[in-house]
Amino acid sequence: MKKITALDLLRKKADSEKIVMVTAYDYTMARLADASGVDMVLVGDSVGMVVQGLPDTLGVTLDDMVYHGRCVSRGLQKAHLTVDMPFMSYQVSSEQALTSAGRLVQEGGAQSVKLEGGERTAPAIQKIVEAGIPVVAHIGLTPQSVHQLGGFKVQGRGDDGAEQLMQDALAVQEAGAFSVVLEMVPAELAAEVSAALTIPTIGIGAGPECDGQVLVCNDLLGFDGSFTPRFLKRFAEMEEPILSAFQGFAEEVRAGVFPGPEHSFHRKKGPRKVAKLY
Ligand code: KIV
Repeated sequence: MKKITALDLLRKKADSEKIVMVTAYDYTMARLADASGVDMVLVGDSVGMVVQGLPDTLGVTLDDMVYHGRCVSRGLQKAHLTVDMPFMSYQVSSEQALTSAGRLVQEGGAQSVKLEGGERTAPAIQKIVEAGIPVVAHIGLTPQSVHQLGGFKVQGRGDDGAEQLMQDALAVQEAGAFSVVLEMVPAELAAEVSAALTIPTIGIGAGPECDGQVLVCNDLLGFDGSFTPRFLKRFAEMEEPILSAFQGFAEEVRAGVFPGPEHSFHRKKGPRKVAKLY
């Protein structure tokens, strides 16, 4: 089966077809996402928060992303695979950015890479694109700058912020990105940016007028019922059935009910070989 390419995704915008992206971090989730027919799977550096239990994405390394990219790539037959460039894998120089992006493609199975930042990241984007690696940009709330932004907050609410966001969007398009994630941006501003760009915008907390939408798989599946940000809709409530399956297993093991005869292996029928007597 042919994998979806960056060109296919650009075409979707031209044809006014919405793009669907979800995150995945392992083979099993990737296989299910692919089978569901989503267009893009993102190995997000959100892996730090939802898989590694970190408070933010800053501790995720390039080796982590290569590893998770490789796991996810084995589960995909059709969906386009984008892998995030983690904190400090592209900020030092454009050369460092290209070297890191190359690893994500060569070792991590990425078809494209995603990096955070607008105007300031444009030179790195250009360098990577010139080497033939498609780039997804990421502007608005950029979680790798959480300390600078003062938290996970909506961006572009005021006039200056809105103007900067538009400049950032145009800069990453000009640098050669084939798509841009808009995170936590007022819906009206995201609509303006989407209309101004020829490349697709993929929103998370950025309203319905984006050309596509992305959610973190653990969030949309409802693995953590206590996580309830405004932008999130849970399409399943998996916390309860998972808890109850673990509890059922524990109860049956403790009561000696599991494993039953149907789950056990038995010796072959027939006369028992008698051990040598003499
Ligand atoms: O890391 C991530 O999962 C992301 C998405 C939220 C877009 O960047």
